[in-house]
Amino acid sequence: MSLLDVKNVGISFGGLRAVHDVSFAVREGEIVSVIGPNGAGKTTLFNMLSGVYQPQQGEVLLNNEPVTGMAPHLLARRGMSRTFQNLQVFPAMTALENVATGFHLQENGSLLADLLGLPSARRRTKRSEDQARELLERVGLGRAAEFEAGSLSYGSLKRLEIARALALGPKLLLLDEPAAGCNAVETEEIEKLVAEVAGSGIAILLVEHDMKMVMRISNQIVVLDHGEKIAEGVPAEIASHPRVIEAYLGAGAKEEAAKYAEC
Ligand SMILES: Nc1ncnc2c1ncn2[C@@H]1O[C@H](COP(=O)(O)OP(=O)(O)O)[C@@H](O)[C@H]1O
Ligand SMILES: [Mg+2]
Repeated sequence: MSLLDVKNVGISFGGLRAVHDVSFAVREGEIVSVIGPNGAGKTTLFNMLSGVYQPQQGEVLLNNEPVTGMAPHLLARRGMSRTFQNLQVFPAMTALENVATGFHLQENGSLLADLLGLPSARRRTKRSEDQARELLERVGLGRAAEFEAGSLSYGSLKRLEIARALALGPKLLLLDEPAAGCNAVETEEIEKLVAEVAGSGIAILLVEHDMKMVMRISNQIVVLDHGEKIAEGVPAEIASHPRVIEAYLGAGAKEEAAKYAEC
């Protein structure tokens, strides 16, 4: 069954059709990647799916229910959370605090109880911290729990952001360029983490520039160019798709594509 159904969504900015008539689905536990050259509309698509922008065309269904343009915190309650291409962590807070805020958002505690420091609020904080610690371990940041986020390496921050999104307990995680700006070792770690998260039953919608990573871990790939979907399929199909090779990978990329097709 589809977890996410994207049906004919589109949006324009002024005269520019940033995304036009794009449809695809993400099934439970699947990794679906959206690729395409810079400016193809990937981030805009994510923004429409995650409630940052209201689509001007089409609709979005989560678990067969319409969620088009729904605010990010409401989507999170329904099981969809995301990370951003540009990091959105709180640099002055510790890694642990950054993740624990995710758990706080998820819980229905009383603000008054928090303000008064009642035992129920303290118990909740303790529980959030324990869960946050577990998540930090899971993303390989167990030892950095007490470090200020601002002091962490770029690769660690990317993982911290994933931990915080996981704190919302998603069934579907949207990752916008999780390996952008990371070195080869960090990229490999992110890839392992993404595969592990998917293996635990969380579906993933991924935007990523690193084609090797995309080809290795995706179940399905959606290709955008100039805001439109030009191809969709399993990695081997995409790697040998004439329109993708021409429009996206560009001249001289055929050999490269052949290499992926052998994988
Ligand atoms: N808020 C906005 N206002 C105007 N134009 C935008 C806005 N967001 C994106 N665009 C334009 O939409 C197109 C798609 O951008 P984007 O979704 O960021 O591409 P990608 O993530 O694939 O690189 C680009 O031409 C970009 O300049
Ligand atoms: Mg982008």
